[in-house]
Amino acid sequence: MTPVQTALLRETWEQVIPIGDAAATIFYDRLFEIDETAKPLFAGVDMAEQRRKLLKTLNGVIEGLNDLEALIPAIQDLGRRHAAVGVTDAQYDSVGAALLWTLEKGLGDRWSTEAQVAWARAYGLIADTMREAAKEASDPGAKADRLAN
Ligand code: HEM
Repeated sequence: MTPVQTALLRETWEQVIPIGDAAATIFYDRLFEIDETAKPLFAGVDMAEQRRKLLKTLNGVIEGLNDLEALIPAIQDLGRRHAAVGVTDAQYDSVGAALLWTLEKGLGDRWSTEAQVAWARAYGLIADTMREAAKEASDPGAKADRLAN
């Protein structure tokens, strides 16, 4: 991430914090609307608690932007836990789309193309790290390939 992108992520995130729970509600509604495979995964999950976890995770990422490397092991663990509950690669794209859509709706005039590019990049980095860790957990050869390349 560039310093300008980091600043933009922080600035936009600051504006989401006061409307966090409402934004998280819009996010899950949107996710279930655009990806019907996502909803069954949340059967039996306490959604109020889930919204809190989502906001806390995003907050941690924003706080850790200066040193994303340090977050990698935790993000990899998160990816393995998601694979264990059956989350697929394609669902990460749906989550990314729902996240960007929610930010756009939530921020209105304060949303911009630059903010969109910065969020897409940050989400992409996290999602790729999660997906990669999930793949390596199910196929140790994938890790060997990555280390060799
Ligand atoms: C960057 C992407 C994502 C982040 C940061 C994220 C974050 C989290 C966090 C923090 C939890 C709490 C449980 C834990 O820590 O293991 C969680 C649970 C969960 N996530 Fe995600 N998630 C992401 C992507 C996805 C995707 C793509 C799906 C698929 C639709 C998904 C479905 C779920 C489900 C079903 C649970 C509840 C698991 C359970 O309690 O049974 N997540 N997520």
